Amino acid sequence: MPDKIEDLEIQLLLEALFQHYHYDFRHYARASIKRRLVQARDQLGFASISALQDRVLHDPDMLPRLLGYLTVQVSEMFRDPSYFRALREKVLPHLRTYPSLKVWIAGCSAGEELYSLAILLREEGLYERTLFYATDINPDALSAAEAGLYPLDRIRKFTENHQKSGGKSSLSDYYTAAYGRAVFDKSLRDRVVFSDHSLVTDAVFAEMHLISCRNVMIYFDRALQDRAIGLFRESLTRKGFLGLGSKESLRFSRHATGFADFVPEEKIYQRREP
Ligand SMILES: C[S@@+](CC[C@H](N)C(=O)[O-])C[C@H]1O[C@@H](n2cnc3c(N)ncnc32)[C@H](O)[C@@H]1O
Repeated sequence: MPDKIEDLEIQLLLEALFQHYHYDFRHYARASIKRRLVQARDQLGFASISALQDRVLHDPDMLPRLLGYLTVQVSEMFRDPSYFRALREKVLPHLRTYPSLKVWIAGCSAGEELYSLAILLREEGLYERTLFYATDINPDALSAAEAGLYPLDRIRKFTENHQKSGGKSSLSDYYTAAYGRAVFDKSLRDRVVFSDHSLVTDAVFAEMHLISCRNVMIYFDRALQDRAIGLFRESLTRKGFLGLGSKESLRFSRHATGFADFVPEEKIYQRREP
């Protein structure tokens, strides 16, 4: 099929998803969206992207399946351990001075990053004064995050990352193994609000001391990245922290002057007043 027609079909499908379901992928990096839609078309057995569009418009059960293709759910507990070490050693000493804390994990996927932060704050004695917001647009990911179950074969890597991040306890203190899965302790989510929230279409909802948003904006185009960073700036308290992780940066954002570098290697920033 000529590329031009396929591009048009993609544009129409993204528009349909937005108009009908309010999921807005129109400004995600197009090459990656195209790859994912072609994969969805082939694996779900449609002859064309238009046929896939027809189905998703008329059959709401197709929506979560398509979202599974359009959103990337790769994650790990304590992923990029040096990021968590930097939070522990450099950011938490500042956060410790507040009587209560709010932490937002934006694009939390199946909860790996949330549980990592919950364990980190528990190890540092800050969990009880913290309220966590774990948000994502993928409903299946949010349900998985709420359940806190991971296949046991992922635990070795999680444990290794936790140790490298400077973990002060044993990861096995926080889960029990049952039927090939690790079931994370309920007490790690009794201070967590799980919520459907899109960085593309939704607004700020609370004042945060720390926002962690890693491996999410890499899928956005420049304008969307700017929108998300604007939201983060608006949402942070005075001198609040934003962690983007090593793959993302504020360097080219029009909000760059609203932040100061805090741990440059880990792309951890602190809100700065103009
Ligand atoms: C690759 S995962 C990142 C998970 C975790 N933050 C990490 O770094 O390991 C990207 C997540 O971003 C979510 N996402 C995609 N678009 C989003 C949006 N507009 N608003 C919020 N989350 C979004 C996806 O559903 C997915 O769970």
